[in-house]
Amino acid sequence: MADVEAAREVIRRCRALAACSDEPGFTTRTFLSDSMRAVLVKITMWMSAAGMKTSVDAAGNLRGVYEGAAVDARRLLIGSHLDTVPHAGAFDGVLGVVMGLSLVESLHGTRLPFSIEVIGFSEEEGVRFGVPFIGSRALVGELDTTLLASRDAEGVTVAQAIRDFGLDPSRLADARTDANPLGYLEFHIEQGPVLEAAGRPLAVVDRISGRTAANVTFVGAAGHAGTTPMNIRQDAVAGAAEWIGCVEAHAHGTKGLVATTGRIEANPGAANVIAGRCRVTLDVRHADDRVRVAAIERLRVAADEIGARRGLQIEWSLQLDQSGAAMDPELVATLVRALDAAGAPPTVMVSGAGHDAMVLAPHMPAAMLFIRTPGGVSHHPAESVDENDVAIALTAGMNFLNELAASFNA
Ligand code: HGY
Ligand code: MN
Ligand code: MN
Repeated sequence: MADVEAAREVIRRCRALAACSDEPGFTTRTFLSDSMRAVLVKITMWMSAAGMKTSVDAAGNLRGVYEGAAVDARRLLIGSHLDTVPHAGAFDGVLGVVMGLSLVESLHGTRLPFSIEVIGFSEEEGVRFGVPFIGSRALVGELDTTLLASRDAEGVTVAQAIRDFGLDPSRLADARTDANPLGYLEFHIEQGPVLEAAGRPLAVVDRISGRTAANVTFVGAAGHAGTTPMNIRQDAVAGAAEWIGCVEAHAHGTKGLVATTGRIEANPGAANVIAGRCRVTLDVRHADDRVRVAAIERLRVAADEIGARRGLQIEWSLQLDQSGAAMDPELVATLVRALDAAGAPPTVMVSGAGHDAMVLAPHMPAAMLFIRTPGGVSHHPAESVDENDVAIALTAGMNFLNELAASFNA
């Protein structure tokens, strides 16, 4: 039966970690910040008490290993990210790390035929450097020199941030996971309305949608708002606004496509000046990469057409082109059986949000278990989870471990 006490402790720990923030009064925790250090200290303490060997790798990932019965036992990775978006809730990312730790604690010293490595990734959201998945990319050896040279708003590079934290970027190769892990399991809140609408506590993820992120800048001519006639303007904001309408219309008209222009920066940004430049962020996602790529091409053409008609130049800067990722069918099936045995209706769904599992999936079998998000509220201080759902997820997680262990003796 689900252990509600363990679930309550998971929720208590997540809320305690939420207080570790770069911004008093909110939960904002970015790559290798002081508040991240406080989180590493707390979780390391809990991991050590559970008999795990802990370390922080050169990318700032927290690594806690619970050895298996044999010293050369293969490794199951369980993890998620420890960073947050600004003004976040208490569960996005960190829940997956705390639940992995809770499963180890519930073994009470029993050794499995495989070891378990609980990983807290240092950065998944991309807030500080504008590029996501720094932690999980380091685990699979994809943290390249271009990414290490990315700069934050103060001009600090990723490599320098690693050094400032007391770590050594020249040791990043050591962060790579050992050869041939059994697989990767990530518990994560759904962050949307699907499970609540379906009245389901949990879902197994079978695919994670791909994502394109770009900065699109409309370049016109700044001018006096009072003296410039409408017919000779090259108004960058007006051009961007027309394009933003196209983005939304295209997404509404394409099944399963979501497109967001979350940030708009007008320059010079004065009320009595026609904007000479306007930068718009674009985030486009779809479960099928072909649909997403076609949508980007369509939106590029629309921007160029608007630019030609309005005398605007268009600058397109691609920030991320993340392919969608299929979860491992065998692990998905094992998770579905684990859910069933935990008394939860076996539900399978696509993830609209990106996750570290999509970075690991090309390198090892990967699987995700979603936990219902009340109100579908996420990336917001009101983000929550239900303790009974967490309890069922812990039971399903233990069923998953037991089935995996049994497969060693089969
Ligand atoms: O943006 C996302 O999909 C996730 O929250 N990083
Ligand atoms: Mn997030
Ligand atoms: Mn997340």
